[in-house]
Amino acid sequence: MKAVVFDKVGGPEVLKIAEVAKPEVKPGTVLIKVRAAGINFADTLFRNGQYVMQPQLPDTPGLEAAGEIDAVGAGVTNLKVGQRVAALGSKMYAEFAIAPAVQVIPIPDSLSFENAAAVPVQVLTAWHLLHTAHHTAPGQTVLVHSAAGGVGIVAVQIAKAAGARVIGTVSSDSKAALAEEYGADDVINYATKDFAVEANRITGGRGVDLILDAVGATTLDKGISCLAPFGHLISYGRAGGPPEPLNLLRLFEKSTKVSGFTLYTVAAVPDVMRRGIEESFKLIAASKIRLLVGKSFPLAQAAEAHKFIESRQSTGKLVLIP
Ligand SMILES: NC(=O)c1ccc[n+]([C@@H]2O[C@H](COP(=O)([O-])OP(=O)(O)OC[C@H]3O[C@@H](n4cnc5c(N)ncnc54)[C@H](OP(=O)(O)O)[C@@H]3O)[C@@H](O)[C@H]2O)c1
Repeated sequence: MKAVVFDKVGGPEVLKIAEVAKPEVKPGTVLIKVRAAGINFADTLFRNGQYVMQPQLPDTPGLEAAGEIDAVGAGVTNLKVGQRVAALGSKMYAEFAIAPAVQVIPIPDSLSFENAAAVPVQVLTAWHLLHTAHHTAPGQTVLVHSAAGGVGIVAVQIAKAAGARVIGTVSSDSKAALAEEYGADDVINYATKDFAVEANRITGGRGVDLILDAVGATTLDKGISCLAPFGHLISYGRAGGPPEPLNLLRLFEKSTKVSGFTLYTVAAVPDVMRRGIEESFKLIAASKIRLLVGKSFPLAQAAEAHKFIESRQSTGKLVLIP
C-alpha cells in the first residue's frame, strides 16, 4: 500500500510517498481503509521531532482518519467490516491504518469522510476544552485564539452553542471574516492589535472567563492580563513556540488559573471520551457545529499540506485523500 514516510526529522520536504507493507490487524484493533486522513498542526511537530512523542524512523505521521473498516481484530465485538468510521490512531497518512477499537467512532451516512476526519482530534479537543477541562456556561465570555483554524473554528461554535459570548483572535482580516461567519461575536486581528487590550475593552474592563490558547509564546502571559476574576486559561498547544515559564504570582492578582490539556488524557478515560463523542455528534446533527474542510490534498502532497498549515494561511480542517 502507499503511505507517507519520513526517514529523518526536518522540514516538510522530508515527507515522501512510499510503498510499504499493509498493516496487520491485531487483537483489540481494527484495520481501516482510509478515505480521508486528518492533518493536524501536531503532525508538523511530530515530523520535526518536537512533539511529545518521538518518531520511530522511518515513520508515518497521522493521528486521525475516516474510512471503512477493512478487518476486525480478535476480541472486537462492537464494530464490523464495511462500517463507516472515524478514528484516533497513528500512522494514518496511508491507504490503510490501524486504530484501537476503543478509539473508533461510527459515523452517520450523512457525514462525508472529509468532514468526519475532523472529528477525532479537532472536534473532540474543542468539546473537551470547553466542557471537560472547563464548564462553559451561558453568561461566560470565551476567548478562542486562532479562531479560524482547525480546533479554533469548532471551538467558536461549541462555545456559542453553550451560550457563551465568544471573542476570536486571528492573524488576518480574511480569517476574521471567517471566524465571524462561524459565530464569533467579536474578532481581534492580533497581528495588528494587542488582543489583551482589546479583550479588556470589549468586556468593559472585566476580562474574559476562559481563554483557549494553543499559540503559546506570544499569547500565554499576555492572556493572563485579560482574564476576569477567577478566570481560566487553558494551554493546549504551542504553534507559536513554547511559552516562558509561568510566574505563579501573576495568578494571585485576580485569583485566576492556568491549566494544561491534552486529548491523550481524554482518550485514556473511556467514559469521558464517549460523552464527548455523543455530545459532539448531537451538535453536528443539530447543525450547531458546521465542519469546514479548508483544503484537501492528495496523499502524495503531504509535504505541501504541511507547508500550508505552517504558513498560517490555512483555515478549518486540512485533509489528505489516499
Ligand atoms: N492538546 C491537544 O490535545 C491538542 C489537540 C489538537 C490540537 N492541539 C493544538 O491546537 C493548535 C491548533 O491545531 P490545529 O491542528 O487545529 O491547527 P490550526 O489551528 O489549523 O493551525 C495552526 C494555527 O496556529 C496559529 N499560529 C499562531 N502562531 C503560529 C506560528 N508561529 N506558526 C504557525 N501557526 C501559528 C495560526 O493561526 P493564526 O494565524 O490565526 O494565529 C495557524 O493557522 C495547535 O497548536 C495544536 O498543536 C492540541
